[in-house]
Amino acid sequence: MAKPVVFIPSKIPEEEKVLRFLEAFAEVDYRDEEEMLDEDVFYDGLSRASGLMIYSRNKIRGHVLDRAPLLKAVSNIAVGYDNLDLNELTRRGILATNTPDVLTETTADLAFSLVLASGRRIAEADAFVKSGGWDGWLPSLMLGKDVHGATLGIIGYGRIGSAIARRARGFNMDILYNNLVREEKDEQELGIRFVPVEELLQNSDYVLVQVPLTPQTEKMISEKQFGLMKKDAYFINASRGGVVDEAALIRALQEKQIAGAGLDVFEHEPIDKTHPFLSMPNVVTLPHIGSATWQTRAKMAMKAAENMAAILQGRRPVNLVNPDVWTVKDGTVQ
Ligand code: DGY
Repeated sequence: MAKPVVFIPSKIPEEEKVLRFLEAFAEVDYRDEEEMLDEDVFYDGLSRASGLMIYSRNKIRGHVLDRAPLLKAVSNIAVGYDNLDLNELTRRGILATNTPDVLTETTADLAFSLVLASGRRIAEADAFVKSGGWDGWLPSLMLGKDVHGATLGIIGYGRIGSAIARRARGFNMDILYNNLVREEKDEQELGIRFVPVEELLQNSDYVLVQVPLTPQTEKMISEKQFGLMKKDAYFINASRGGVVDEAALIRALQEKQIAGAGLDVFEHEPIDKTHPFLSMPNVVTLPHIGSATWQTRAKMAMKAAENMAAILQGRRPVNLVNPDVWTVKDGTVQ
């Protein structure tokens, strides 16, 4: 019997190991490409694929699935899966998976680095020195805001939120959090305090949002929320750009309602070359690199391959994000 085709339209790290693993049960159509494939090349690969392994830059909506008659599995190489239209996938009986856990610590490192970079003006100071602007030590040169001992407010307290709190503990920060559920273990172990969102916004020196993008969280941080923040507070986001009303953030920065922002994610990525953030020295802008280390990206690719293997071999994948499909199919992938 012919092996099912697994289509991987982007370069992945440690490809030899991952491809060898997949080739034991699948024919792998691997495109060793950093850039996005041309649409017709992508659709050509998709038309033969039973499995698709992608990064979150590939948006999988209904019109894309129309071009995938054989598709049984989409394995996202990311923890977030807002790039997948889950309703459409579920309706068509296609299983979808993600890669949680392996990227938690790496993403927390990056998110916490945005706290430091914002408060201590790291990117701005680096650009200043490199531009040749540093002519001498001045008493008020690049004064920033302390991180140690400051109050960190974390909105959305999942695995990554908790890993950020552990880092903040090491900086002796006072940690407030808001979440759908209480995290009593961390309350006891890390001394974090659950508070209403309004209270968190009013009292935090650094407000960090770490929620998945869903219809419920879309633009959840908007004018009202920025209006509640302290004037010398920083806003940090390394989750998804869509959870913030970017126009409201721009206004809050322009009107000095808040001191600055540290952002790894944006409403539209890549960010427009004329975007107002790019001319704001108090905004640290990163190109969505939360999970971008060699080690973690390799682990993510392997985890995605394991999820794919499970599905194509008829086993329930560990990281299934639309379990309804599994129930409907009664455990068998046709
Ligand atoms: C993730 O894993 O969700 C990262 O943000 C990459 O998209």
